[in-house]
Amino acid sequence: MYYIGVDLGTSAVKLLLMEADGTIANVVSKEYPLYFPHPGWSEQKPEDWWNAVKEGIKELTADVDKTKVAGISFGGQMHGLVILDEKDQVIRPAILWNDGRTGKETDYLNQVIGKDKLSAYTANIAFAGFTAPKILWVKNNEPENFARIKKIMLPKDYIAYMLTGSFCTDVSDASGMLLFDVKNKCWSKEMLDICGVAEDQVAKIYESYEVVGTLKEDVAAELGLLNSVKVAAGAGDNAAAAVGTGTVGDGMCNISLGTSGTIFVSSDKFGVDQNNALHSFAHANGKYHLMGCMLSAASCNKWWMEDIIGTTDFAGEQEKIEKLGENNVFFLPYLMGERSPHNNPDARGTFIGMTMDTTRADMTQAVLEGVAFAIRDSFEVAKSLGIRIERTKICGGGAKSPLWKKIMANVLGIKVDVIKSEEGPGLGGAMLAAVACGEYASVEEAAAKIVEVVDTIEPDPELTAKYEEKYRKFAKIYPALKDVYSEII
Ligand code: XUL
Repeated sequence: MYYIGVDLGTSAVKLLLMEADGTIANVVSKEYPLYFPHPGWSEQKPEDWWNAVKEGIKELTADVDKTKVAGISFGGQMHGLVILDEKDQVIRPAILWNDGRTGKETDYLNQVIGKDKLSAYTANIAFAGFTAPKILWVKNNEPENFARIKKIMLPKDYIAYMLTGSFCTDVSDASGMLLFDVKNKCWSKEMLDICGVAEDQVAKIYESYEVVGTLKEDVAAELGLLNSVKVAAGAGDNAAAAVGTGTVGDGMCNISLGTSGTIFVSSDKFGVDQNNALHSFAHANGKYHLMGCMLSAASCNKWWMEDIIGTTDFAGEQEKIEKLGENNVFFLPYLMGERSPHNNPDARGTFIGMTMDTTRADMTQAVLEGVAFAIRDSFEVAKSLGIRIERTKICGGGAKSPLWKKIMANVLGIKVDVIKSEEGPGLGGAMLAAVACGEYASVEEAAAKIVEVVDTIEPDPELTAKYEEKYRKFAKIYPALKDVYSEII
């Protein structure tokens, strides 16, 4: 049998066709536009996602026996606000996870309602990209749109709805809405009231590996698949990536270098960081995780390469980098503001430390290192909670770069395990579908049988010591610039 994993990302949807034993039979990617209607705003059209998913599934399955496709599931970009009216029409473009427009609403939630209450209701505080502040933003700024809302959805749940007609979400993605009581895995009545949302406007909650429905007749006909194909709830992309990298045991870690950069620590028990600097979310294996999320990771490198220096030869540029640990140029990767741990939508990307002998390679290196240092910021928070991380998995587009993986291992001073496939969320989505269809008894069993570590990058003590010193310097720059950022936006 075949299982389809849909990784609904920010730059593209990546679809993966997996055989029952975990063999990847095909991968297809379809891009769609990302809109920045104002500085710091970030939107996409759900209709574009849907068209790309349909086209992608057709292409993905073109050369296989389509009657053998048994299940579909997802890893979806998290936190995005999708709103539908009574006719199931999308009311406005989705407001994405990296959108920073909700400064006022985030402040209202954190300061007027109060972080203590938010944390008690949901296990988290408000961050600009979370869904609840966006609902308040629509209420405050687009009351006519707010009045039309019948259904509130997350990005991948819109796709599940279009495929099956089931108004559903899963525990991991719901965790990022700030409407969900993570500990008890149910909607928070208090948060729904604070946001002016009725219980019938939010979806039915499932575990990530549960079936939410089967394909609608017309959709099955259009895709050329059987309408008995089961659709499983799936997960937020980070939880799905954790499944796809086998990060499903207590204390295991995964780093994702995608458009966002995340550090994900799987946990068997529910737990909250006292300062809520890390997100406390449900995991796709029925348990929990802590996560730090930076808003621009591989996207910083893409921006620097394509938009600024005008090349697509990422590997060629990285070959010119020779002096690891000795760069005097620093880059703060806050091109979309920053989430973890600074929680500051006004932060901005910054190069500092250039001199007349600074080279293009130094600047490229600073971008790669800046992202690693920013991941280290969240890693430090995890350490301060007593979490001991000695090794991590790694996935996402940035994980294709051997140099970036080496920088990461040495900036964090831990071993980096490289998985056979970097297709974290897509593979995780397909694995969740396979579990939902009964191919594996649990997410853990699927991970044990499917995920394969093919290499380990060991930190080099000399380089780690150099990076330790560089990180200490990096950590001084944001506090020095914090007030300046608020003045220059
Ligand atoms: C996680 C987050 C991002 C998006 C990217 O909290 O906002 O990782 O899920 O797709």
